[in-house]
Amino acid sequence: MQKTVAVIGSARREGNTGKLIDMIAKVLTIEVIDLNTKNISAFDYEHKNIEDDFLPLMDHILQHDNIIFVSPVYWFSMSAPMKIFIDRFSDFLAVEDLKPQGRALRGKVGYVVATSISKEIDDSFLDAFTKTFDYLGMGYGGCIHINCENGFQVDSYQNDINNFIAKLQSS
Ligand SMILES: Cc1cc2nc3c(=O)[nH]c(=O)nc-3n(C[C@H](O)[C@H](O)[C@H](O)COP(=O)(O)O)c2cc1C
Repeated sequence: MQKTVAVIGSARREGNTGKLIDMIAKVLTIEVIDLNTKNISAFDYEHKNIEDDFLPLMDHILQHDNIIFVSPVYWFSMSAPMKIFIDRFSDFLAVEDLKPQGRALRGKVGYVVATSISKEIDDSFLDAFTKTFDYLGMGYGGCIHINCENGFQVDSYQNDINNFIAKLQSS
């Protein structure tokens, strides 16, 4: 079992964000899980969706130490599939039987991989991840962001990508 796993939520798997995580995953030889292939419904206070794909997916993810959250910036925020996925972490806080799984997130390290058409990543985007990691007792390992306003051109980011990969390799 690999130490690191990536979870992508984008409107298109083969888009800019997908290409970026595929470059990283190829070097690290890690699995990239596409949230669009999973049946994960929005948070439900009555937990009527408890039988969907969220819990089995989390069982699998929790076998890794590092979790890479991969999302484009959509309207200064994470993508909708990623938001639905992260909202469901609330199941761990609300359902007594699931609390041990929630506790298993403590000590994991979250990383963020993102693309947008802006030079800098929005604080509103990154804060949503880092504050969530903090709330859940996870560490924060770092972020790589690529500006795709002129398409997916990574040449000027190769150093950043290498540094991001090196951080995960040495973790
Ligand atoms: C619905 C939507 C909203 C977007 N909102 C933003 C935004 O707020 N800031 C930004 O810089 N780029 C924004 N973009 C541009 C995307 O972040 C950018 O094109 C990204 O690389 C797309 O990744 P993808 O190919 O994985 O979808 C938006 C794109 C879409 C489709």
